[in-house]
Amino acid sequence: MKKSLLVTGGAGYIGSHTVLDLLEQNYEVVIVDDLSNSSKKVIDTIKKISQKEDSLFFYQLDLKEYAKLEKVFEEHHFDGVIHFAGYKAVGESVMNPLMYYENNFFSTINLLKLMKKYKVFNFVFSSSATVYKNVPEMPFHEENPLGAANPYGRTKQFIEQILKDLSYSDDHWKIICLRYFNPLGADKSGDLGEDPNGVPNNLVPYIAQVAVGKLSHLNVFGTDYDTPDGTCIRDYVHVNDLAYGHRKALEFIFSQDKGLYEAINLGSGRGYSVFDILHSFEEVVGKAIPYKVTDRRPGDIARSLADISKADQLLGFKPRSDIKEMCQDTWRWQKKHPNGFSEE
Ligand SMILES: NC(=O)c1ccc[n+]([C@@H]2O[C@H](COP(=O)([O-])OP(=O)(O)OC[C@H]3O[C@@H](n4cnc5c(N)ncnc54)[C@H](O)[C@@H]3O)[C@@H](O)[C@H]2O)c1
Repeated sequence: MKKSLLVTGGAGYIGSHTVLDLLEQNYEVVIVDDLSNSSKKVIDTIKKISQKEDSLFFYQLDLKEYAKLEKVFEEHHFDGVIHFAGYKAVGESVMNPLMYYENNFFSTINLLKLMKKYKVFNFVFSSSATVYKNVPEMPFHEENPLGAANPYGRTKQFIEQILKDLSYSDDHWKIICLRYFNPLGADKSGDLGEDPNGVPNNLVPYIAQVAVGKLSHLNVFGTDYDTPDGTCIRDYVHVNDLAYGHRKALEFIFSQDKGLYEAINLGSGRGYSVFDILHSFEEVVGKAIPYKVTDRRPGDIARSLADISKADQLLGFKPRSDIKEMCQDTWRWQKKHPNGFSEE
């Protein structure tokens, strides 16, 4: 019999790619998303690409509404839950911390209470590299000290702690927190990808919008870092590799008899500078992308890299895509859908 999964935030960027992967692997998927940062068109697109309409269910609701969420648990039996739903913009979280604490905490608490009530103890949580305390030594290992530097990151760090407490309280729980580094890329169809609201916060969606003519130029924040070309280095990972990492995490959970709690990095384990990404994108697009060098941005560190050996050892996770493929896939999506899901 097919395993059934609840995927919160499944209409979002990483969630939608993960749902596609899970449908391909013959899971039944129930998406709960309030579409606060996504579009109903994502659901139609997933159905079209996967051709698995019968295995996909969608509920448009806010996880903060306990009674409505309970109806979903009444209507479906779940073997596990992947929890992507949450607000994720660092800058916005600094300006409006209550909005972030309210949404990310209340949603998660409601979900966990219902999981406990309906005896669903298998849980994968979207955490983030932002939980780590900034230190110059790289890469970030899971045992590194935590110390998120902004309200968004603190919601992830505190939720990790809540999950740890929960797993100590009852050994039925099997919980994996996946700490993602910088997701990139899009589905090969070119019909599913990252659709940021307004001006993108992330480097590659920003470059893609410059390439397509929606933005005039890229701002490179500092070329005087202690790195080979002076720009910041980050660990970029293809969104499809992240999707596959979630599946591997679930398979690991299903294979275990005892309760567990693990925090695991998901990245590519490779670092690319801002100029590496820019030049790789230029190669894919076939033209120069205008940029201006500006001052360093407060809070940016020179390097952020993932040690992914735990993901490999525990989950058998091996990232499969290089930076060129990530740029190619992003560009295919951007070119086909310059205005994301709002155009059609
Ligand atoms: N994209 C990144 O760079 C990144 C990096 C590390 C961690 N993460 C985390 O991964 C998760 C997914 O990220 P993403 O990039 O796909 O974000 P996204 O915004 O594209 O997806 C999140 C989805 O959650 C939904 N949502 C938000 N609050 C909700 C609520 N109260 N009830 C129901 N649905 C709600 C949104 O509508 C959206 O579809 C997030 O938790 C994010 O914090 C993302």
